[in-house]
Amino acid sequence: MNDITVRGGRVLDPANGIDAVADVIVRDGVIAEVGKAAKAPGDVIDASGLVVCPGFVDVHAHLREPGFEHKETVETGTRAAARGGFTTVCAMPNTEPPTDSAGAVEFVLRTAAAKGVVRVLPIGCVTKGRAGHDLAELAELSAAGAVAFSDDGAPVADAALMRRALEYAGMLQTPVIDHAEEPALAAGGVMHEGWVSTRLGLRGVPAAAEESFVARDIALAQATGSRVHLAHVSTAGSVELVRAAKARGAPVTAEVTPHHLALTHEAVLTGPTEGGALAYDTNAKVNPPLRTPEDVAACVAGLLDGTIDCIATDHAPHATQDKLCEFDAAAMGISGLETALALSLTAIPLEAAVERLTAAPAATLGLERHVPGIGSLSKGAPGDVAIIDPEGEWTVEPETFASLGKNTPLTGRTLKGRVVATVYAGKVVHDAR
Ligand code: DOR
Repeated sequence: MNDITVRGGRVLDPANGIDAVADVIVRDGVIAEVGKAAKAPGDVIDASGLVVCPGFVDVHAHLREPGFEHKETVETGTRAAARGGFTTVCAMPNTEPPTDSAGAVEFVLRTAAAKGVVRVLPIGCVTKGRAGHDLAELAELSAAGAVAFSDDGAPVADAALMRRALEYAGMLQTPVIDHAEEPALAAGGVMHEGWVSTRLGLRGVPAAAEESFVARDIALAQATGSRVHLAHVSTAGSVELVRAAKARGAPVTAEVTPHHLALTHEAVLTGPTEGGALAYDTNAKVNPPLRTPEDVAACVAGLLDGTIDCIATDHAPHATQDKLCEFDAAAMGISGLETALALSLTAIPLEAAVERLTAAPAATLGLERHVPGIGSLSKGAPGDVAIIDPEGEWTVEPETFASLGKNTPLTGRTLKGRVVATVYAGKVVHDAR
């Protein structure tokens, strides 16, 4: 295998506390050295003036295969990941069939090995068929390679079942990823419950739908001693609950999406329209919904003070027909892999963003156990590198996305933060030099 030398960039490797101009040498697919290369072996990527960091790790993405290949496939989703600087994506199990058996986990791994351009780590279901009635065979899923359990897209509504899931997952030292949404409070809701939903005449999802389940699942994590990871935290109240829980030493971690760090419910109102009409922008319809400016500020503060551990995209690609319809009927989700860095940089500083996209997510899900060195540029770590231009401006044009999901509320927006190249296991998988 060829060597690659990424030469002369500002190396940011938060796992090792490195922030210095250096060369990164990748040999035989792994990190060989970070330092001053006497001579640059192999192919040279000139990174002067750019930032060089570990490939990003996404603990929450929907790749849709099997079952929804018209929305995304493992191939297109991992290409989107590479364009976004991601070299690892954890694949959510709300496929058809869902990832609730060893065979289904193996399908994801085999498809990724055959078609994927970056690493895919499968997440298994908590309950059989994601139906919320019977626990899936968690030990079997774990043995097959599932790195976490989740019924994401839906909560585990039955608290006793969630407790049982945490007990078993704890024995397997595998986190349960919690889609915190109280079903009765959220029923029929299509956006955040607030003044915008009132103005548009749409049914809202109150903040309490999330917060009541965040509180429930923190209590269950404490009762069982097993770790719960809260997906896509979106409200100030949730951030406060997690902050207090962590202060008590509760085994809880949390993630936030770039869109919840940067957009508010007003995006539903102000999407692209003609003649000043109200937008009803279905591309801003997402679960949990975009919230208020106060919620956004709390998520940003929580991410910066360590209450929220990491950024996760919740990449949720949908087909055009799933979004080009009445607001109530539209699918929920934002295609997020290709805008994650730039959108995050609108909210938090570069150094924090790189940490929350690399070392932090790897540590949050304990991925080191599955992939030693992941999320770092340590010697011997996977040769996964993102080369970025934090000042580089670009305009979001979904038709250029590698993802089949063109569903973004950011169309036409000019953002700062460009992924110049991505190296996965010593191979260039994205090159926009
Ligand atoms: O907006 C969302 N879309 N939220 C979820 O929890 C699921 C996801 C999807 O699968 O489309």
